[in-house]
Amino acid sequence: MKNLLFLIPFMLLSCTQNIKTADDNQDETSTGSDPHSFANPKENVVTHLDLTLAVDFTKQQLNGLAVWTIKHVTKSDEIIFDTQGLTIEKVTLDTDTAEVFFALGDQVKILGQALSIPIKPETKKVNIYYSTSKNAKALQWLNAQQTAGKKQPFLLTQSEAILARSWIPTQDSPGIRFTYNATVTVPKDLMALMSAENPTNKNAEGKYHFEQKNAIPSYLMALAVGDITFKAIDKRTGVYAEPEMLDKVAYEFADMGKMVNAAEKIYGDYRWGRYDVLVLPPSFPFGGMENPMLTFATPTVIAGDRSLVSLVAHELAHSWSGNLVTNATWNDFWLNEGFTVYFERRIIETLYGKEEAKMQEVLGYHSLMENIKELGNKNPDTRLKVDFTGRDPDDGVSDIAYEKGYFFLKTIENAVGREKFDAFLKDYFNRHAFKSIDNDTFLDELNVLLIKGDDKVKKQIDSYAWVYQPGLPKEFIAPLSPVFSKIDTLVQNLLTTKNTLGLSKVLKSTNEKLYFINKLPDNLDPELMVSLDTEFNFTNSTNAEVQCAWYVMAIKTKYAVAYPAMRKFLVTVGRRKFLMPLYKEMIKTPEGKKLAQDIYKTARPNYHSVAYNSLDGLLK
Ligand code: BES
Ligand code: ZN
Repeated sequence: MKNLLFLIPFMLLSCTQNIKTADDNQDETSTGSDPHSFANPKENVVTHLDLTLAVDFTKQQLNGLAVWTIKHVTKSDEIIFDTQGLTIEKVTLDTDTAEVFFALGDQVKILGQALSIPIKPETKKVNIYYSTSKNAKALQWLNAQQTAGKKQPFLLTQSEAILARSWIPTQDSPGIRFTYNATVTVPKDLMALMSAENPTNKNAEGKYHFEQKNAIPSYLMALAVGDITFKAIDKRTGVYAEPEMLDKVAYEFADMGKMVNAAEKIYGDYRWGRYDVLVLPPSFPFGGMENPMLTFATPTVIAGDRSLVSLVAHELAHSWSGNLVTNATWNDFWLNEGFTVYFERRIIETLYGKEEAKMQEVLGYHSLMENIKELGNKNPDTRLKVDFTGRDPDDGVSDIAYEKGYFFLKTIENAVGREKFDAFLKDYFNRHAFKSIDNDTFLDELNVLLIKGDDKVKKQIDSYAWVYQPGLPKEFIAPLSPVFSKIDTLVQNLLTTKNTLGLSKVLKSTNEKLYFINKLPDNLDPELMVSLDTEFNFTNSTNAEVQCAWYVMAIKTKYAVAYPAMRKFLVTVGRRKFLMPLYKEMIKTPEGKKLAQDIYKTARPNYHSVAYNSLDGLLK
């Protein structure tokens, strides 16, 4: 009920845009109760960062000075930061050169160490001199061999969910926002990029300046350093990649500008200035990461035929859902990802039509069903509102937040109609712009602003079942795609006739191939695997999604012909989404486990900590 009262002021104001100032960044409703942060934002909170970094490839170390501008919320004489594996050399306050006493707390599993700094009532800035450790979790240091060009090393960061603290001492909670400026020094032949206004050319000194004028949470802090070049797509969009990849990337992502325009038409202005994408070496652990102004992306979406560009739509959509309106804690993660998948499919529908969006929805649905089956449909982790207290939020990345979140929003759209839902969402993005939001606040707003006491609509939506109950609500109706329904028949025929001839002329698109492979039964006749491979050459596909789906089938049916190609894939690609299903499938049998361990020995050095931390346990 108390939440409803606080809704009243913005119901009156409805649709006025929030104007953010550095001092007005914090959302009082949600900060200070994050189970994954030591910070004390209810007492003292950061508002701006001036970061100076020197990137040392030889030592694989960042040497930094983080100057934090702070805001005193209470009279507390202490500010607490999150750190993980950082060496704190010294701390000073404002312009005073005298070092102040600071305390590093005990090492806590997953969370790292609290850094407590005593401050005075007049303290405005806290200066932290530090360096990173050799195995800083966010950082991936690649040697030249691991890049496309094979000549220069590469550094990339991945801060979401709680890894920013391993390269910056920061109040590392998604409910705490700050603006930043940075100066980064790198070896002369390399370029540095951040989640900020970026250079498009290298400079002779190897010194780069960055500015992020919008207040962002620390999981969106990002840095990449390498032999990177730029190509514009249109006035406000462009791509960055190693020179060997640049033209291919620009071809693949030619629709980026159109995507931004489409997104703006649906939910209002793009508020970040430029939108660029950086394509990284293949060991990047995710498909994409929505670093503001500069999405980080895996090269495994560069299929050559633009068939995997929904990843760009997804990361772009985060410029509203996530980067503008942010999950308050990692227990509200579905608010970031579920909204983003919904928005992503709206962008895809605008650019490529309803059938394309529908196919992606159905693929998402099947993936969700598999995921629920794996977790068990009574498992509390299959609720949208999860509790990851005491656990690593990175382990909470599953289809639940993404696809169950998507289907919940789709259910709301169906119940109230797209027009009303769009108006609500546009308003939601404006109302909460540059703020964070938790699950209950969203549900309150949904009730007050959209359901408005209409019992029929309330029942149709059934928020409670979606958010607080495991599995899927029993009224839920599975989505259908006419194109895919035809493939169901085709697979049935194939199983009786065993005839694969001409199939590749029928199943042309990546979506169709993926659906088809996923529909094949686990115990498929190994001879059919041979003839399918003759027909499609799936083993040597250049589409990473197809490769992954096919190699899973190869393991299930012991189709060893595909193993060398699979090994090569697992040794070069570090995208966790592909690694997990392949290794998990292999370890189901003793021979498979041996193969998995053997591949892993060679592959592990190419993986980011996010990937090997998920795999080490499986492959011991
Ligand atoms: N923000 C996520 C990646 C992420 C989530 C990193 C949680 C760390 C913790 C990103 O937007 C994402 O969802 N990536 C997907 C893209 C896909 C859904 C199009 C991925 O990496 O596969
Ligand atoms: Zn996402």
